[in-house]
Amino acid sequence: MGIKRLSSSIAEVLPLKKKKVSHKLNGKRHRAPELANPSKRTRHLEFQGVPLKFDQPIGQGGFGQVFLERVKDVTYAVKRTDKESFNPLESRKFNHPNVMHVYETLKDEKNVFIVSELYDENLESKFQDRNMTEDEAKEFASQLLEALNYLNFQEGISHCDIKPANVCYSSTDGKFKLIDFGLSQGIHSIRPGSGTPVFMSPESKDINRRLCTPAVDYWSLGKTIIYLMSKQFSIQHLQVSEECLEFLRKLLKEDPETRLSGEEALVHPWIAGSSSSLWNQFWNWIKSLFN
Ligand SMILES: Nc1ncnc2c1ncn2[C@@H]1O[C@H](COP(=O)(O)OP(=O)(O)OP(=O)(O)O)[C@@H](O)[C@H]1O
Ligand SMILES: [Mg+2]
Repeated sequence: MGIKRLSSSIAEVLPLKKKKVSHKLNGKRHRAPELANPSKRTRHLEFQGVPLKFDQPIGQGGFGQVFLERVKDVTYAVKRTDKESFNPLESRKFNHPNVMHVYETLKDEKNVFIVSELYDENLESKFQDRNMTEDEAKEFASQLLEALNYLNFQEGISHCDIKPANVCYSSTDGKFKLIDFGLSQGIHSIRPGSGTPVFMSPESKDINRRLCTPAVDYWSLGKTIIYLMSKQFSIQHLQVSEECLEFLRKLLKEDPETRLSGEEALVHPWIAGSSSSLWNQFWNWIKSLFN
C-alpha cells in the first residue's frame, strides 16, 4: 500500500496546543511522554481477542504514535495517545467517506488506543517529491469541503488542525481521508491558540480573542492546497487558473467574516465543475427542477 514508515518533514510542524482542549495556551510544544519501549506498557492489550503487538510504527505526530496491527486477516491503524493529551473527539465514530473511520477505542492505565481503518501515506509524504496538479487539488479541495460540511453541520465540530500530514489517501476507495481530531473543538466553543502555526488562520493566532468560528478550517484548507501545489505558503508562486487563484484568495481572507464559507466554497466555479461534489450534484438537481 506504499505506507511511509514515519512521517516527518518541514510542514509537519508540531501543533501549538496540548491536545486536551481545556488546557490553557502556554505556547509550549508538548510531546507524548514515554514513547520509547511501547511493548512494556501495552503488553496485555487485545483487540477482538488478539493481542496487539505495537512493533510496526507507521506514523508519529506531536502527541501520539501510530502502529500497523494485523488482526484476523485485517490490517488496522492503532494510534496511541497518553490519557492526558487525549481529546474524546478522536474516538468519535464519524460516518463520512472523507473522514477517518474509527472501529474501537481501548484504554490501559496510561494510554488511549484508537483502532481505525488503515489508509495509505499522508499527503505530506505522498507529495514529497512532486507537486499536486491543479486537477488533483480541485478533487482534494472538493472532498475536504464535503468532510468539513459534514463535521460542521452534522457533528457540530471544527477540525482545527487541517494540514497535509492530517489527510491520508486511500487507494481502496480512491478517497482522501481527514484524520487526527486531537485538536478538534465544538463549533460554538472554538478557542484560539490551537493548530499548526504555518497553517493557522490569523484569528486562531490571536490569543486575546475569546472565540473563533469554523472559518479557521477554511483558511487552513487554503494554505494546505497552496502548500501541496507548490511547497510554498503564498499564492504568488502558483501557476494555476484564474478561477483557482480567486478561490484561494477568498479562502485566505484575513477577516473570517468575509472568508469563503463551506456552502459558498462548494458552489464556487473552481469546485462546482468537479463531478464528485455532492453539494454540486444537489445544486444541479435543484436547477434542473426549474428548467
Ligand atoms: N488511519 C491511518 N492510516 C494510515 N496512516 C495513519 C492513520 N492515522 C495516522 N496515520 C499516520 O500517522 C501520522 C500521525 O497520526 P496523527 O496525525 O493522528 O498523530 P498526531 O500525533 O496527533 O499528529 P500531530 O502532530 O498532527 O498532532 C499521520 O500523519 C499519518 O501519517
Ligand atoms: Mg497529526
